[in-house]
Amino acid sequence: MSGIKKIALAYSGGLDTSVAVKWLADKYGAKVVTVTVDLGQGEDFRSIGEKALNVGAENHHTIDAKDEFAKNYVFPSIKANGLYEGKYPISTSLGRPLIAHKLVEIAHKEGCDAVAHGCTGKGNDQLRIEISCRALDPTLKMLAPAREWGMSRDQEIEYAKKHGIPISKSAKKYSIDQNLWGRSIESGPLENPWTSPEEDGWEWTVAPERAPDKPTVVEVSFKAGVPVAIDGCPMEPVDLIRKMNKVAGENGIGRIDHMEDRIVGIKSRETYECPAAVALIEAHKDLEKLVLNRHEMSFKSLVDEKWTFLAYAGLWDDPLREELDAFINKANDRLDGKVKLKLYKGSMIVTGRESPYSVYDFKTATYDSSSTFDQSLSAGFVELWGLPTVVSRKVISKKG
Ligand code: ARG
Repeated sequence: MSGIKKIALAYSGGLDTSVAVKWLADKYGAKVVTVTVDLGQGEDFRSIGEKALNVGAENHHTIDAKDEFAKNYVFPSIKANGLYEGKYPISTSLGRPLIAHKLVEIAHKEGCDAVAHGCTGKGNDQLRIEISCRALDPTLKMLAPAREWGMSRDQEIEYAKKHGIPISKSAKKYSIDQNLWGRSIESGPLENPWTSPEEDGWEWTVAPERAPDKPTVVEVSFKAGVPVAIDGCPMEPVDLIRKMNKVAGENGIGRIDHMEDRIVGIKSRETYECPAAVALIEAHKDLEKLVLNRHEMSFKSLVDEKWTFLAYAGLWDDPLREELDAFINKANDRLDGKVKLKLYKGSMIVTGRESPYSVYDFKTATYDSSSTFDQSLSAGFVELWGLPTVVSRKVISKKG
């Protein structure tokens, strides 16, 4: 006997996790409580809850974590310019540790001895959920039914039919995960890296060629590295992200087609649409260039990359992530100001930036006669800066 009596299952309302309710209850002779976390995925949470109870959950919890997600997960990733492999705004990745935290919270409240999730063994999500759950409470048993049951999709449908689990009529063409920060669209025809994504996969972005014929200029204000207003209008984090998704998406910004390295070693083709993420990270990066000096910039890019990797790789709860946050927060202390973005048919250009802490000095930089930069100092500087190169060349030429 496993000794497992009660299981808290992360529940999306889809086929996998619905089958999991029944499968877990049967396999362990245990009670199953389901947990759905609202990260802004825009689903009908009431019917998800009803479905959970219909397929056999003892109890269901819906947790609204949108605000927490925006403030404590998305905003730190903006400060870290979080783009995995330079491209993916880690939207799915950031949601998982928060789901794990809520799962453990409910497991404690409900007196569960195990937690479960619907991730397969081929992706990154199993790492994110399990490692965070274990880091929070190593005494809870971790169950991953979809990794264990060995059912194909057809067998799963068969299982669902046999147990009266409703199957949505629309045969799913893609595997989709979405939250406030973006939509991940994978599998189906996208598994061929040469096949261009079809229009039916995109929901938050219009095709660039069908975007408005006039450019949209949008101003984003930042305070200590996080966006606080759009076009001068102060907004709460969730509303601001939603607004940016809308504005950028309407202009065809945010489609991403990426050959990605999963932590389990698989190279995969993933597509995303993350209009707000693409726009806000670009704006943030630009403001950093105005405010930080070259030493801060070059070191911060190393820290940013490491931070993003930890978040992607399931190591959100590693103390290193918080230690890197300490640096990132400090470097973003002075990141107040505004960035102007011009959006037009899928292209986005930063066309202006300003900050009270700008290190751009007109008097030094200008080419006009008011410049205070003493060019005579450059002669010696050029000589010393080039010294190692010139000396090495001389030695190399002697060798012939
Ligand atoms: N590759 C991305 C990540 O690891 C997205 C995974 C999305 N999952 C999905 N079911 N479509 O974060």
